Amino acid sequence: MDIENLLVIGSGAMGSQIGLVGALAGYDTTIRDVSTTALDKARDALSEQLERNIEKNRTTREDADAAWQRLRFSADLEAVAPEADLVIEAATENLDTKRMIFADLGRLTRSEAILATNSSSIGASQVAAATGRPEKVCNMHFFNPALVMKCVEVVRHAATSQDTIDTVLEVARVMGKSPVLINREIPGFVANRLMGAIRDEALRLRADGIASFEDIDTAAKSALGHPMGPFELMDLVGLDVSYQIRQSTFEETGDPADLPHPDLAAMYERGDYGRKTGKGWYDYETGA
Ligand code: CAA
Repeated sequence: MDIENLLVIGSGAMGSQIGLVGALAGYDTTIRDVSTTALDKARDALSEQLERNIEKNRTTREDADAAWQRLRFSADLEAVAPEADLVIEAATENLDTKRMIFADLGRLTRSEAILATNSSSIGASQVAAATGRPEKVCNMHFFNPALVMKCVEVVRHAATSQDTIDTVLEVARVMGKSPVLINREIPGFVANRLMGAIRDEALRLRADGIASFEDIDTAAKSALGHPMGPFELMDLVGLDVSYQIRQSTFEETGDPADLPHPDLAAMYERGDYGRKTGKGWYDYETGA
């Protein structure tokens, strides 16, 4: 199926950058959010990102202007949904919210439109029934920061059609990404399972007093060549997101070993979400 129009649901860190990736790849792209304040914030952040791309010679002024022309921001789902060929949902990691969104999308988009979720913890099978066309539904999971990270996990569930998978893989390639096909839904898919194993070990090492979180980050970078340590990465991804991913994995498996680590839960309850709130493991206001 030919994809020309993208609709991204959610204008947070992931949704906004996915939208810009789409516009830069030549797709007419709309970013939709219920909050106009969030849309304004996304518009400002993306405009800055584009300027930086031009300064760093990653994009020409002409290409950036053309991408900006292709990008729209809207709070009106009913108006924008009927145009979409591919929807990428990047709203909060909450199953009830996503089910409501996918029910709306099933009703408001054309029957041939593909409906993908960027979720890393909620498999598309959990929202597919709400759309009335499960064969058109899959996960298309980007990584933070989506403008930079090349991986996109494309995940089929039992009812996803091959045509849907082929189309989504192709869109990811057109976006300049390296798609990875995941053949079966499993909590965390592949990359987050790898990341989660390292994060859990890091949290344990710190809680047991073996090393400070700063030193654990240093070891991950200087011994293993990781671009960021596990604590820096939690701050980048958001401790709220890390917490919600674990919580929804636990809800799926019922295995207490999948519960969020108590230190992660405590920070989540305090509202220390990382870079987005100015404080996580590191303090982004004082730079400590
Ligand atoms: N948004 C957009 N672009 C960004 C960015 C951001 N938040 N952060 C960095 N960049 C870009 C910038 O273009 C930057 O170039 P300039 O600022 O010079 O123009 C370029 O990346 C390099 O950045 P830096 O020099 O500041 O730092 P760096 O070389 O360490 O790179 C990084 C930053 C790309 C984030 C790198 O540290 C990295 O790869 N970190 C690991 C990220 C990672 O593992 N992401 C996966 C998270 S898991 C996830 O997302 C899945 C999930 O479901 C939770």
